[in-house]
Amino acid sequence: MSNTTESWGSRVGLILAMAGNAVGLGNFLRFPVQAVQNGGGTFIIPYLVSFLLMGIPLLWVEWAMGRFGGRFGDHSTPFILDNMTHKRFWKYFGVFGIFTNMGVMAYYTYIESWTLTYTLKSLKGDFLGMDLDALDSFFNGYVDLGSGINFPVWALLAFLITLSINIYILSRGLSAGIEKVAKIAMPLLIGFGAFLAIMSWTTGSTGRCEDCSTFVGLNFLWEPDFTTLANPKIWLAAAGQIFFTLSVGMGTIHCYSSYLKQKDDIALNAMSAGWMNGFVEIVLGSAVVIPIAVGYLGLDWVVDNAGFMMAFKTMPFLFDQWGSVLAVIAGVAWFGLLFFAGITSSLAMGTPWMGFVQDEFGWSKNRSAMLLGIAILAMGLPTIFFFEKGVFDEYDYWTGTVSLVIFALAEVILFAWVFGMDKGWKEITDGADMNVPRIYRPIIKYVTPLFIGIIFLTSLFKPLNGELSDWSTAFNSLFSGQGWPWANDSIINQIFHINTGVQWVADGHFTNMFYVDMSRFFLLACFFALVAMVKVASNRRKQNASS
Ligand code: TRP
Repeated sequence: MSNTTESWGSRVGLILAMAGNAVGLGNFLRFPVQAVQNGGGTFIIPYLVSFLLMGIPLLWVEWAMGRFGGRFGDHSTPFILDNMTHKRFWKYFGVFGIFTNMGVMAYYTYIESWTLTYTLKSLKGDFLGMDLDALDSFFNGYVDLGSGINFPVWALLAFLITLSINIYILSRGLSAGIEKVAKIAMPLLIGFGAFLAIMSWTTGSTGRCEDCSTFVGLNFLWEPDFTTLANPKIWLAAAGQIFFTLSVGMGTIHCYSSYLKQKDDIALNAMSAGWMNGFVEIVLGSAVVIPIAVGYLGLDWVVDNAGFMMAFKTMPFLFDQWGSVLAVIAGVAWFGLLFFAGITSSLAMGTPWMGFVQDEFGWSKNRSAMLLGIAILAMGLPTIFFFEKGVFDEYDYWTGTVSLVIFALAEVILFAWVFGMDKGWKEITDGADMNVPRIYRPIIKYVTPLFIGIIFLTSLFKPLNGELSDWSTAFNSLFSGQGWPWANDSIINQIFHINTGVQWVADGHFTNMFYVDMSRFFLLACFFALVAMVKVASNRRKQNASS
């Protein structure tokens, strides 16, 4: 319970901040790569279905939970959840709503710092004339790849600067900090994105190779294909993308929405921010990396080389094909866009912690922000030093993929079944500036929990390769006594290293698995540190209530 005076300045500001939270590196780097790796247009149908049956319901649920918690002066998920039930354990699920944000912020701010460096280098024209090899070496040198344990001086410096900018803005608070930044960054981002999209659409066929045309790339991404609806692997990827891009299952939306006033609309606001994110992802996010790369390098090359590093290692070379003036403009637009998209998201990731410690421990904004900075620095450095060992990906796996699903499953059950749909529906529709379709009542109660539950079970037990036929192969193998063939990225195999066994030392050296497992224990320790803080906070509340 806080005596905070924080609130949003205006409705436009709130929507832009919420859209800024959702629109991030996920829209421009993650989405196109996921789409390419999952067969292009085959991705779009599971993606849209996940948006309608899981994304939209979770948006409404989280906005409603946040505003409800704000009524009691609570701005962080542990106590927002606590208000909705008499059972005390729920607040510990709420720890995910702080932890996920901090874990993601640690590695996300690192990529964000690359976009800052690349913006400045584009502006200086440093990439002009570089071919793909030169760009590759530049990138590898910048993050110090190839040295085993990385010590990239410039990348570290850029990370510190980016983190400091984030911390400074967070210390200014909601309306004077985040909202102000969103009002500048979001329009600029959309302008830059529109410019790049138009450049991409007008480039068309370049004649570099037989299928070298930006339209071939666009078609590949947009042409729906219904034959893969039965492929569980694509469904998992699509649902994972919906989680990440909408920032649902993370606790950020609850936090933002807890600063609303009780009579404020949430139904329409949530849709505005959600659809704006969808537009930026499907229209602008699809328009840049993949089509332009197909335009100059061909579809086969793109499918073989798809990865989020393409944004850094390939784009400057492609822009160069437009002549040096446009190359500089496009480079600044592209990396500037990524920086703005990134910072409006990383700021959002800082807010659950800010709300939590201000509410519970009465810390000032400056102090809360400073300590957040120290925590994110401590959590971020391992991803930089041990980047090559897989620590970066490990963070992304646990905090950017698995925890979201666990938290979303817990919160939707709490909302629809413990808090109850009668009260829940009232929370969603109170003050609504739109008619919320009634069909969403049964969807939230039955379909969304079931959908997330299946996603969770499927990720736990995913068999090798993960296609539909692999499931029957796996069951056959299980029943014939040969055991379950685990996919490497199934949660169970990740935890127990079933496929490879635990191997921490080989030839007298620590293996990658050693570094990855240590980072995993470190994340676990961070999680329990937050659990302890919630425990202390809850004891303090009890004392205050009885004295
Ligand atoms: N949605 C953002 C993106 O697409 C990422 C993001 C925003 C996020 N807030 C978050 C991820 C909180 C984890 C936790 O890039």
